[in-house]
Amino acid sequence: MITLMHISCTEDRPRAANAHVADELHAGLNAPDAWISPKFLYDALGSKLFEAICELPEYYPTRTEAAIFARHGAEIARVAGLGSTLVDLGAGNCAKAASLFPLLQPAQYVAVDISTEFLCDALERLRQRFPQIDMEALGMDFSSRFELPPQVHAARRLFFYPGSSIGNFTPDEAHGFLRRLRAQCGDDGGVLIGVDLAKDKATLDAAYDDALGVTAAFNLNVLRHVNHLVGADFDIRAWRHHGFYNAARGRVEMHLEAVRRQEVHWNCGGQACARVFEPGDCIHTENSYKYQQADAIALLERSGFEATRVWTDPQRWFAVIHAQAIH
Ligand code: AVI
Repeated sequence: MITLMHISCTEDRPRAANAHVADELHAGLNAPDAWISPKFLYDALGSKLFEAICELPEYYPTRTEAAIFARHGAEIARVAGLGSTLVDLGAGNCAKAASLFPLLQPAQYVAVDISTEFLCDALERLRQRFPQIDMEALGMDFSSRFELPPQVHAARRLFFYPGSSIGNFTPDEAHGFLRRLRAQCGDDGGVLIGVDLAKDKATLDAAYDDALGVTAAFNLNVLRHVNHLVGADFDIRAWRHHGFYNAARGRVEMHLEAVRRQEVHWNCGGQACARVFEPGDCIHTENSYKYQQADAIALLERSGFEATRVWTDPQRWFAVIHAQAIH
């Protein structure tokens, strides 16, 4: 069911969605190695905390990617093409796409994000700055299924997926996700994607465990969100953030560790469920895979795209890749 919240601000929440959210959270909280999907990091406060992370000196991806766009923007626009249907996946505050509007001159801008309220506010502000661009906001979880509604133009869809959010999927999930994009983009479409590249552990550890504790707050906030979603009673003060690079697995991992024994309750399908967490027990909340450039290109190619151009920074910490749909 699609509920119209505003003429061009749409929330795609099938009737079963809330039950699905509860089932997913229950499965993760009950698993022997407890987990919470990283998509639950992004309620309204989580989105704001993520914005703050992007300002941190330790969190290099945002400014490194921005520098690539600032330096190569004109060429990126030439390769990606003007006048596209620009579909911004995980748009957040829409700032990255908006900075490219003067270069890309999209015919339509479609901002997609799970954090609907935050997205709609951002789009409302953007509309005032760029009244000539047709804009749509879609509040949806595009991580597991993805179908664009009819108000999204079919011609020349350019999927914009910056920030290396692709790294928050496992490589297999990333493949499935890119295949779904390929299915939605026709033969004249493409992707413009940001990919964080593998680098030294100290840089990665600092980026995901900053001195100010903003990433810790971002991670802990997922418990607040879960409390809200399924009536859980997590005590935020009883948990500690961990964020570190696991070189063997090629990914940064975020976990929450219980600092004392506690019994946590939540609502599962009308029933009361509970789990005891002992000190040291962890909940895995996020992976952030760091790619070799060649592996990222191979992943795109396996998913039905051909990389046309790659731009990187001088340290080769981050790559922006344009890839065209292939038949
Ligand atoms: C959104 N995503 C690409 C971020 C990342 O770097 O994996 C989320 C994040 N988690 C902790 N810091 C930032």
